[in-house]
Amino acid sequence: MRAFSTIAVLLTAALSVFATPLAERQTPASVAVVLSQLSSSVTPLANQLLYATPENATSENLTPIIGGISTSVTGAVSSLNLLVGQPTTVIMASVDGTTQLAATDISSILSEIVNLIFTSLSAVLAVVDATILTLITSLVSELGTLVFSLLSVVLSLVVGLLAPLLVLLAPVLSIISSLGLTSLLGDLLGGLLGGIL
Ligand SMILES: *[C@@H]1O[C@H](CO)[C@@H](O)[C@H](O)[C@H]1NC(C)=O
Repeated sequence: MRAFSTIAVLLTAALSVFATPLAERQTPASVAVVLSQLSSSVTPLANQLLYATPENATSENLTPIIGGISTSVTGAVSSLNLLVGQPTTVIMASVDGTTQLAATDISSILSEIVNLIFTSLSAVLAVVDATILTLITSLVSELGTLVFSLLSVVLSLVVGLLAPLLVLLAPVLSIISSLGLTSLLGDLLGGLLGGIL
């Protein structure tokens, strides 16, 4: 009797998994979930760049670190693209799914990641040896470009993000400009402002 009821419970549980509506199973991760995961994967890598010394800022050390950050950002952009066309409740769901976030919440998570990436890139460029500067600079601008795709997709998903985001990104604008990425920023903002005007 007991064994039967156990099996019945297990079967019910198994069937309810299959019975979950397709739409529910396929609900993509919210912006907050994707950005939190991105932050966890990027932070330890970026910290290695941030605290790099002339001794350990070698191309052997730096290439996989910058590559790892690039891979994470690319993955986040793909996940965020799945949110295009989803209802606001899905896009703006908090990490635990219980509440809805505001654009200002997203701007703080996003700017923390973007600021950390640009600050760490600037820090590492300041210590690398002249012999690998060209190599590292090209990895850095590739990553910078990816970060702009990240900004662009989040801006397209979250209404009202631009104003709070710009305030929070202000501290790294000079870094973006010293990395030679100002034109990308101009394209991004030009596209957005063009869309508004
Ligand atoms: C370089 O060494 C510093 C100090 O030990 C460390 O914090 C940093 O993560 C290291 N960075 C790299 C790229 O190995």
